[in-house]
Amino acid sequence: MRVINLKDKQSASEHVATEIVKLIISKPNLVLGLATGGTMINLYQYLVDLINANNLDLKDVVTFNLDEYVGLSSEDKRSYHEYMQERLFKYNDSWNDNNIHIPNGVGPNLQVEAFNYENQLEQCGPIDLQLLGIGENGHIGFNEPGTPFNSQTRVVNLTPSTIQANSKHFDDINDVPIQAVSMGLSSIMRANHIILLAFGENKINAVKRLLQGDVSPELPASILHQHKNVDVYVDDVIYNKLK
Ligand code: PGA
Repeated sequence: MRVINLKDKQSASEHVATEIVKLIISKPNLVLGLATGGTMINLYQYLVDLINANNLDLKDVVTFNLDEYVGLSSEDKRSYHEYMQERLFKYNDSWNDNNIHIPNGVGPNLQVEAFNYENQLEQCGPIDLQLLGIGENGHIGFNEPGTPFNSQTRVVNLTPSTIQANSKHFDDINDVPIQAVSMGLSSIMRANHIILLAFGENKINAVKRLLQGDVSPELPASILHQHKNVDVYVDDVIYNKLK
């Protein structure tokens, strides 16, 4: 696991966006694992900019998002479908809908859909590059503390800490869904390369625990120590607290 301090969120986001563009140029059918949340917002801004500046054709790029809230339709402004549409996909016409995968959060049998999502991932994969944020409780995707390392895409219960942290994106904490569909830890670990981004005060503790090196389901991100190709990008705020 390589820890890289690019000093602030802007520089790290710009750097990672550039890496993604280089990958798409060298492999037009790249399989990209996408994440959502506040951490990724600047990255997608730079990515949109660079995609358009380089006139990239994205029709063969395959994407898999990590997760979606249960109970929010793809048109719901607070869903991760909408997040991706608004932050990335709507800015370029060459994205191919058939190659974009985001778990469905609404339907009579989400477990079956989650199972099918995992199968699609296996068929299209492995993911060349997986983006990850980290939760204050150490989750990756919505794999909360206690998640088995062999977990696959499935319906999960969100912890009070995640509901609290994500309530800033909702009018009322009671509106935050209590479940999500999330890729599992084993789904994430199949990626060839993983980039985790963490910025700011709220993530100091999670990153500190991650870098202590103990591997335990109590800190889901700690599974990444068992992967050979992980970059963790942090800012000064976190890095200066690691010494
Ligand atoms: P955030 O979420 O980027 O909104 O902090 C990250 C996560 O919970 O994985």
